[in-house]
Amino acid sequence: MEHSRQRIKIAVQKTGRLTDHSIDLLERCGLKITKSKDQLICYGENMPIDLLLVRDDDIPGLVNDDVCDLGIVGLNVVEEKRLQLEQRGSNARFKQIFELDFGHCRLSIAAPSDTEYQGPDSLKNTNIATSYIGLLRDYLNKNGIQAEPVFFSGAVEIAPKLGRADFICDLVSSGATLAANGLTEVAVLLESEAIVIQTLVPLSAEKQALVDKIIQRLDGVLKVRDSKYIMLHAPRAALAEIRSLLPGSEAPTVMPLEGSDDKVAIHAVCRENVFWETLENLKAAGASSLLVLPVEKMLA
Ligand code: PRP
Ligand code: ZN
Repeated sequence: MEHSRQRIKIAVQKTGRLTDHSIDLLERCGLKITKSKDQLICYGENMPIDLLLVRDDDIPGLVNDDVCDLGIVGLNVVEEKRLQLEQRGSNARFKQIFELDFGHCRLSIAAPSDTEYQGPDSLKNTNIATSYIGLLRDYLNKNGIQAEPVFFSGAVEIAPKLGRADFICDLVSSGATLAANGLTEVAVLLESEAIVIQTLVPLSAEKQALVDKIIQRLDGVLKVRDSKYIMLHAPRAALAEIRSLLPGSEAPTVMPLEGSDDKVAIHAVCRENVFWETLENLKAAGASSLLVLPVEKMLA
């Protein structure tokens, strides 16, 4: 079993909002996996990396205990785990390494639509149903509010109808679940998105090298997400103005054009999206033959 110890494991949500984006991200890092989502483990075919497909709530714990070396999960779940560990007197053994700009949602307090809410004081001496006990307690403590969290592992939004709570504290993404249950959002506790976490448990040199490699690839994939490669022709005299119009670019490549003394070709990587307005401004500054290409891979 020497072999299996040198493989790294990445924890990914089994089914839910983050699943497809997470797997897509890893595939863009070059990982080929057997795609059966019914399995607990998906084996990497071309790299020594396996995916553990689990409930999102279990991901920080798996990374904390180095059952998995990396995990892709919502910040909300990570922060909840961190607070639970703190409340038990231990420190989290994981750290955030990337924000992924998908899985955006927020942890909010909501109330039946006929509730009068005049700020956090309205929560005093109420019952609040949630599966985020740690984050809710933290919010209540920071605001000096005495209220009673009521733990619900799921279907939090029906708690007020059941007479079990006055408020709920749950994730809101589109807001459809709240609306369907006659609830109105009254306070936002945390803005969340998917993040990558890495274990702080020391690894063997060999395993660490593998983790570093996948982190470098993730970094490259995330950096090119909005990057574009732009090519254009321009009068030499307009060079300074054109450079200033290129969004988020470092030193562009400037090349002479065969058979033309006053025109040059400019190639540049723009680290921000290039919009039509930018192209129109470049054209107005004298640029011609403009071409914008997506960047597939980048290695600094
Ligand atoms: C959350 C939350 C709500 C729903 C809100 O659950 O518990 O039920 O999403 O989304 P909406 O505002 O778009 O309607 P999620 O699907 O993330 O599942 P989980 O909390 O069980 O992981
Ligand atoms: Zn969950």
